[in-house]
Amino acid sequence: MNKKEIKSNFIEYHTTDKLSEKTQNLLSRAKEAASRAYAPYSKFQVGAAVILEHNIILEANNQENAAYPSGLCAERVAIFYANSKYPDSAVLSIAVTAIRDNKLVKEPIPPCGSCLQVLLETERRFNNKIDIYLYAENKIIHARGVEQFLPYNFDIKSLRGD
Ligand code: THU
Repeated sequence: MNKKEIKSNFIEYHTTDKLSEKTQNLLSRAKEAASRAYAPYSKFQVGAAVILEHNIILEANNQENAAYPSGLCAERVAIFYANSKYPDSAVLSIAVTAIRDNKLVKEPIPPCGSCLQVLLETERRFNNKIDIYLYAENKIIHARGVEQFLPYNFDIKSLRGD
């Protein structure tokens, strides 16, 4: 019997000014995207902004549906949009935030399990770790690589039985 431990690490910032201008811009774009979300049911508006290779920046947000499960999270809309429009460009970074009652959330919103799985696929597809920024009023979290949130994961190697 072996006891195993997996550690994850990320950096917490309390203001945006220690982040690069490029990252600050990405956070603002995620917030703008959140304000355009279609979330009439949850009233929880999530925005995501991604940077791809060649400095391509795209924004997306959650899209809900009266048939609830038919909606989709902001992160997956962003990643699927990016990968469908630029299938050869690696995703370098993603910023995620949310607005509730017209205010930015106080605490960071971690991507849900399904979004993490899609982010993981994108990392493996382009063989490139993604910088993930979670933007909220009280703090900003920066994690490098989806494994920080999904440490023991299922990917193509698991599928092959390797
Ligand atoms: N949502 C996201 O867009 N991203 C997440 O990581 C978590 C949840 C959306 C889905 C739904 O439209 C609303 O937030 C409430 O769950």
